[in-house]
Amino acid sequence: MSSSSITNKTQHISWVSKIYSRVNFWGLKTFKAYWILQYLGSIYPGQIAHHRKKYLLDCIFGHHKYFYQSTVIDGKDASTYFAQSGISSMALQNDGLCTFWMGWQPAIYQITNQAQIRDEYLSPSTAPTKELFGDFMGTLPHGCPLRASKRASLETILGNPSYILSLKKYIEKYSIAFINDSLNTEISLETFTRNLVAYIDSFIPGIIDFNAKPLTEYINSQEYSNITTNFVDLAANVISKMNPETIEDFEAIVPFIKEALTDNFDSINLASETNIIKRLFDIWNLPFTRELVENLSPDQAKELGATIIALYDTTSLSLMWTICFIEKNEVIKEKVIMDAKSSIQNEQLSFIDLVVLEAIRLGGSNPTALWRQAIKPFTFDVCGKKVYVRPGTMIWLDRHQANQDPNIYPDPKNFNPDNIKAIIRSRKDNIDSILARNRYEINSFSMINTLGNPRKCPARLYSAYMQSFILKVIYANCEVNLQNINTEIRKFSAMPKPENPGTIYLQLLN
Ligand code: HEM
Repeated sequence: MSSSSITNKTQHISWVSKIYSRVNFWGLKTFKAYWILQYLGSIYPGQIAHHRKKYLLDCIFGHHKYFYQSTVIDGKDASTYFAQSGISSMALQNDGLCTFWMGWQPAIYQITNQAQIRDEYLSPSTAPTKELFGDFMGTLPHGCPLRASKRASLETILGNPSYILSLKKYIEKYSIAFINDSLNTEISLETFTRNLVAYIDSFIPGIIDFNAKPLTEYINSQEYSNITTNFVDLAANVISKMNPETIEDFEAIVPFIKEALTDNFDSINLASETNIIKRLFDIWNLPFTRELVENLSPDQAKELGATIIALYDTTSLSLMWTICFIEKNEVIKEKVIMDAKSSIQNEQLSFIDLVVLEAIRLGGSNPTALWRQAIKPFTFDVCGKKVYVRPGTMIWLDRHQANQDPNIYPDPKNFNPDNIKAIIRSRKDNIDSILARNRYEINSFSMINTLGNPRKCPARLYSAYMQSFILKVIYANCEVNLQNINTEIRKFSAMPKPENPGTIYLQLLN
């Protein structure tokens, strides 16, 4: 065949596909779920690659059953399913996108962190966990004034860099107190980081002020250890693995919160107006009284519970990854120790800051892949062509793989602080600017990246700075010994945890 006839054929195909795309755009827009052609081949023929399980009736025999088998029965994480099913590689070869059927739901899968969609077109992020989270801001719709005031009440504290810096002395003080009690004992790293962070959070003035009975006591009690250590994982299971089956086991969050608020009533009552519990009572238009604590509705108690557990359980998981990565690499560990002992900070980002951000990128402390559902029809551009997205479509972001984008990071699969150096744009960049809402390179703080990321975690700065301060204390004062680490992702855990974080043994340096 001559080259000109190949060209003619390609042009012919591209004309056919252009016309087909337009007809398909019109068909989806007009008939939505009743547009038959979407079920026969690709959802967006000629525009987005489609990964099919079966050629015909893909929506019945498509990925749903296999996804369930892989994630819920075999315990793998969602990103692993996408890699093993071939969805990831198809997206990689096709501008970072591909579609598939999750049962009857059309799904668009993205493997890059680029933001393409406006937040208001999508369901509230934690909508599938409403039963667990009550009226938590993440379950409230975009543009809802109540959501805005809830977010502002938290973000002005936990997202305020100068306020967070003013907490440094307390974070150091309570880190030292906790570490002193943990010296010369072999402890599971998971238990250590969870208890350390929960202890510090309990005592820092003006956050939750659990001075009478710190969170650690509930975490280690027979009654509440299940709810206080597994709540976030369950929520992640519901969303990431689409597995709502065990939700009812977690009603214990209501008595836990009522008891914790009653036990700590006096210190919360005396706390400054920054206290996030009192701020929530204000938003509910309720005075903070013992009677009202006792009579909190289940939705209110769950909202408080979700916030308080998020406070320590996310940061502690992140810290666990950070320590694992440091301990696996002698060169990095040496530099961390030098930075921890140094009293001068010339750069906007210290070496420890780089390490914390790199651990957030590579380990993450949120499920490997997450999705939100289109609730309004919208269009977005794929290589200059408009794609019509009908309501009901799932928008998946494979965050684990997007955070390893070789077009952004020089050493994407390894723990290497140079990866963070590669995204520094100016000498002024620091933790705040790198994690700003309109920076998309690292996605660990948004479920999927939307334009301007209005839901990006409001406490991300608190979490990153806190880890940096804690690491400085640990590595300036202690010899750290970590045994039996395995940083593969653990099976049967919806939150990405190391397969074996090992045990930590701390000794005071002379
Ligand atoms: C490393 C630590 C943390 C990670 C990885 C993390 C991750 C996330 C993610 C992925 C979201 C969803 C954003 C979206 O809807 O797209 C989120 C939201 C949220 N996070 Fe965090 N988080 C962390 C620490 C914290 C802490 C310490 C708190 C303190 C209470 C917190 C409170 C919240 C709240 C209230 C939201 C809802 C925001 C909204 O809907 O506007 N997070 N976080």
